[in-house]
Amino acid sequence: MAIREILEVPDPRLKTVSTRVESFDDELKALVADMFETMYDANGIGLAAIQVGIPKRLLVIDLQPEDEDAEPEPCDHDGHHHHHQPTKREPRVFVNPEILDPAEETGTYQEGCLSVPDIYADVDRPKTCRVRWQDLDGNVHEEEMDGLMAVCIQHEMDHLEGVLFIDHLSRLKRTMALKKLEKLRKAA
Ligand code: NI
Repeated sequence: MAIREILEVPDPRLKTVSTRVESFDDELKALVADMFETMYDANGIGLAAIQVGIPKRLLVIDLQPEDEDAEPEPCDHDGHHHHHQPTKREPRVFVNPEILDPAEETGTYQEGCLSVPDIYADVDRPKTCRVRWQDLDGNVHEEEMDGLMAVCIQHEMDHLEGVLFIDHLSRLKRTMALKKLEKLRKAA
């Protein structure tokens, strides 16, 4: 496993439309392992393959990254400290994902992206969506997604079309976000 470089705006590769995964082989599994390692290292909750420069329709998501700063549980009545347990990880892989029927009702969520570091903005998206995808063995699954998972999978699927969350903003807000990012980079 290896941590890969995450592409950041304005890298033109982020605008690539990714192509379907056809081979469910060891190379795919190795890529997925690298993507999880890269995502966890960057404290992200989702990563599309194109964000590490691979234009394949492949996403990894884990809505529960390990929270090392979490408060330890309070003492119980015996005065014993509970050992701090890292949040349980829930890694999920989506190969060739498709959205079948996005809800008409939308919700707003403040999104961020590892390819647009330190920038957050409200984005409206369908609140729920039915997703069909393949797993690492090529088996097909379908599930109704809601809440943060619906937000995250739609955000990640945008990456497969070369779309970033800032592309959903007005031109003015997008320009402001990119200027802020430029400033943060200069300050760093
Ligand atoms: Ni993103």
